[in-house]
Amino acid sequence: MPGLTIAGTGRYLPGRAYTNHDLARVLDTNDEWIRQRTGIVQRHYCPEGQGAADLALPACREALASAGVEPSGIDYILFNTMTPDHLFPGSGTLLGARLGCVGVPALDLRAQCAAMLYSFQVAEALLATASIRRILIVGAEAHAALMPWLDREILDGTTQRKPSPEAWELASRHRGWGVIFGDGAGAIVVERSDARGSGVLAVDLHSDGSEASQLCVPAGFRVGRYLGAGEPDSTLIHMQGREVFKQAVVRLPRSVEAVCEAAGVRVGDVDWFVAHQANQRINDAVCERLGIGPERMPSNIDRFGNTSAATIPILLDEMRRDGRLKTGQLVCLLAFGAGFHWGSVLVRV
Ligand code: ACO
Repeated sequence: MPGLTIAGTGRYLPGRAYTNHDLARVLDTNDEWIRQRTGIVQRHYCPEGQGAADLALPACREALASAGVEPSGIDYILFNTMTPDHLFPGSGTLLGARLGCVGVPALDLRAQCAAMLYSFQVAEALLATASIRRILIVGAEAHAALMPWLDREILDGTTQRKPSPEAWELASRHRGWGVIFGDGAGAIVVERSDARGSGVLAVDLHSDGSEASQLCVPAGFRVGRYLGAGEPDSTLIHMQGREVFKQAVVRLPRSVEAVCEAAGVRVGDVDWFVAHQANQRINDAVCERLGIGPERMPSNIDRFGNTSAATIPILLDEMRRDGRLKTGQLVCLLAFGAGFHWGSVLVRV
């Protein structure tokens, strides 16, 4: 089977950064709690009227430029998001049109924070087919419209107005998850490679829908409940944070051990553990359980928060541009998120 190589990467973070102090204007929280419990200091939010495909576009242009590839050189688009522009059509086809990849197949993947891992497995399989040589993988999230606070001007600090008691109560009720998400996009161009030993060495992916209610947005197409009409809070995230945390710190180390065993390498042989950025404490606990130094699991959650499907490609782009990520290194991608979906992918880059 042919291998896969990363030919280019790009990222895009919209607008200005919003600090924890900014959030304290719209809900009952404080900088100390957010830093200590999550490691997050700031995050970006998509401007009103924009969506995931808008954020993906500059990230993809940057990835194409860094790969030296024209849009016409892309054979397939894999678009990872849990905040699509519309219920349908998918964001991948919108992106393709704006990018100039008209006619190119585009597939949206809905595996939330673990979606990028699924995309690597799908990309590897697609590249093994005769007609596909180059794939654009993008993770993009526009969570802003999903956030429990309502008044953007109060968040921006451009008005002296205070939230109404109802708006304050609603946002504060959801403060556990309302402070962790941020918006952004990361893109990767992957190409077929005939170099021996390059590409995806092993995959360990899982999903368990029996625990879906622990982390979900209940609204949807159920008969009589279109978009959860009439059900309070059903269009917001429902998250049992503690339970998600406990599951992540047990399942991720197991998955990393399994993927290394499947590839016949030791955990100690892996150069980088590029983990989903949901909570710094989760990643610290995973390092401890695996017996690896935190310097081998890079982090940017302090600056960008949890950008769901975009965390891994944003981090890979940072590492590639600042020279940390070098050709031939062994990289383990790992993530745990809603579904639950979780797992790890071992890649020789
Ligand atoms: N500011 C201030 N206080 C807060 C906040 C906040 N933003 N949020 C919660 N609290 C309070 C709670 O009300 C509670 O107060 P009480 O003790 O008086 O009742 C206290 O802090 C502890 O609350 P917990 O929810 O138990 O806090 P925890 O330490 O578990 O941290 C967190 C919450 C950060 C959400 C954590 O559980 C977590 O990160 N979980 C995993 C999240 C995750 O990985 N999600 C998956 C990725 S997202 C995806 O896939 C879509």
